Amino acid sequence: MTKKYFVTSALPYANGPIHLGHMLEHIQSDIYVRFLRDMGHDVIYVCGDDCHGTPVMIKAGSLGITPEEMITRTRADHYEDLKGFLISYDNYYQTHSPENEEFSDYIYNCAREKGFIVKKKISQLFDPDRKMFLPDRFVKGTCPKCGAHDQYGDNCEVCGATYAPTELKDAYSTVSGITPVLMDSEHYFFNLPKAEEFLHDYIRNHGVLEKEMANKLEEWFLQGLKEWDISRDAPYFGFKIPDADNKYFYVWLDAPIGYFASLKNYCVQHNLNYQDYIKKDADSIMIHFIGKDILYFHSLFWPAILKNADFKVPDHIFVHGYVTVNGTKMSKSKGTFIKAKTFLKYLKPETLRYYFASKMNSSAVDIDLSLDDFVAKVNSDIVGKIVNLASRTQGFIHKRFSGKLAPCAYEPKMYEKIAVIKEAVIASYEKRNYAEVIRLVSALSDEANRYIDNMAPWVIAKEEDSDDKLLGVCTDGLNLFAALITYLKPILPNLAKDAEDFLNTTLHLNTVDKPLFSHEIHKFKPLFSRIEKATIDDMIEASKEDLKEEAKKNETPPKEQELQGDNAFEPLSDEITIDDFMKIDLRVGTIVTAEEVPTANKLLKLCVDLGFEKRQVFAGIKAAYKDVQSLVGRKVVVVANLKPRKMKFGLSEGMVTAAGPGGTEVYLLSVDSGAKNGDRIH
Ligand code: MSP
Ligand code: ZN
Repeated sequence: MTKKYFVTSALPYANGPIHLGHMLEHIQSDIYVRFLRDMGHDVIYVCGDDCHGTPVMIKAGSLGITPEEMITRTRADHYEDLKGFLISYDNYYQTHSPENEEFSDYIYNCAREKGFIVKKKISQLFDPDRKMFLPDRFVKGTCPKCGAHDQYGDNCEVCGATYAPTELKDAYSTVSGITPVLMDSEHYFFNLPKAEEFLHDYIRNHGVLEKEMANKLEEWFLQGLKEWDISRDAPYFGFKIPDADNKYFYVWLDAPIGYFASLKNYCVQHNLNYQDYIKKDADSIMIHFIGKDILYFHSLFWPAILKNADFKVPDHIFVHGYVTVNGTKMSKSKGTFIKAKTFLKYLKPETLRYYFASKMNSSAVDIDLSLDDFVAKVNSDIVGKIVNLASRTQGFIHKRFSGKLAPCAYEPKMYEKIAVIKEAVIASYEKRNYAEVIRLVSALSDEANRYIDNMAPWVIAKEEDSDDKLLGVCTDGLNLFAALITYLKPILPNLAKDAEDFLNTTLHLNTVDKPLFSHEIHKFKPLFSRIEKATIDDMIEASKEDLKEEAKKNETPPKEQELQGDNAFEPLSDEITIDDFMKIDLRVGTIVTAEEVPTANKLLKLCVDLGFEKRQVFAGIKAAYKDVQSLVGRKVVVVANLKPRKMKFGLSEGMVTAAGPGGTEVYLLSVDSGAKNGDRIH
């Protein structure tokens, strides 16, 4: 019986590249979707970018572009990578969309009408320079437990302690570098505890999660559910809360709603009714594939807000673990933080699909990409066992039998072996136990290769009156090959497509046990080549290069900032009087010492002699003045009456003036000879 499925992969954040960690999830869900489609089900599979939030806003700002521009670019880039791995979405959309705003408003209004929204005043760290509240990740300081420097506002990477950002010592804003202050603000909360009874039953009794994950949730229920802060103050890149003044939905409120937005956007274009997939009593199956880090959002908040709005709640939440490379967390410096793009430059997407699949089942344990094992497995399984079966039998069919297969089997027992595993393969796909699929298929391919080794068609070919036998054995070999490919089609879609062209047929799981007889095949083209170890080394080196590129990008403003034509100049500020200007006390000074601040990416610490006194000034000119010592002795113009600013590195007592957009393009103002330290500039 065909069923209606609505399947999603988690929406990648729009502020970073797609990497192999993401790919685990998209490959896992894509294999499942391809399997469902091959079984004849009606499936809509969507994803898209998660666009909102402070990190996106800050990153766009540092690139000198609008968040809208940035997310448009990122989405195209993400989609290219995901397509490169043969992920077969019906739609790849974005949370910053009219559909999503409409759904978000609707879902929020339902929650409010049902009394689930409460307002509370909270106190939070605020950056007075940027006039913004700081998410925990944008505050750094000294760990209150172990004293490690430069730790994030929510947890210490050295001792593992978790704490509130207000507990950090010497806290500073990573956005401006200055010390944040505590400030009050009214926030909107979703009353999650009010949904506790419903959620507990939902998680316990409806087979939504695997046992292991449902148990994890029990711990959260034991600790008690907490009210969920769903509002953020301006400036924020997101949707405005309809009944609030200058407040925005927290990114995690509208992120999962983005699944619906992507679905609706697709359905409208294809004349389908999206409600058939998501309304409360729809006879559809809604499935989310996610990583274990975002379980709380998907299994508690999301069903709770859906229930209020009379939508379906997820039928299944399939949770996976994390990708490690060579046994440890993906690391930028080791070159094992591999971007999707970098991988695709060196290797075929199906090598990773096959390898991940060979390790995947329904549990959420981490999955290790061991690079030596990866090379060995792809070479021995795909090239050595599967493709080899075709390449060593097809030649005889073409040379001796004009490309036409035998009318019947030579060894019918071999065909029984195909049929025997059919139900087990299907059941394994259903359970997302792709590792088991690969084990079953590998065992079959071993038997098939043993059969060909024993029959040795290359020997038969030399015997007299052996045509029937040769044709029969080679036909058996190719039918076994076709079956192996059919079983692996959801995992290796391109290889399957090439094999279908060669076999001159289409392959489907349902008909895997119907062999091809008296059937004409096409010319054989090499289907897959071996991976060389050197290619892996190159990819790791390139990943290290990626890191350097990124560091450079962070220092240098991008090309887009090199505005042209009318836009080449910053708009002129409001008119001022001479008195206004005179409020700024500009003085001539000489840089007497200049040094790098090891913990600050952009700053140099300068000591400037103003004649009447020496000042310590931190200047954001590190990228532009690589030869730090060349600054010593230079005359500069200093804003001498600027209020001193306490920075994490010390007090900054003034500002050195410079022109240019920033990054490597910063040009200090010079003073003609003759001017003395301390002279005022009029
Ligand atoms: N934007 C949110 C998801 C919103 S869904 C409504 C997010 N984005 S993410 O880019 O950080 O992660 C997207 C998915 O990739 C998550 O399911 C996450 O678990 C997964 N992975 C990110 N890094 C991963 C690994 N290193 N390994 C495996 N999966 C990981 O969270
Ligand atoms: Zn610590």
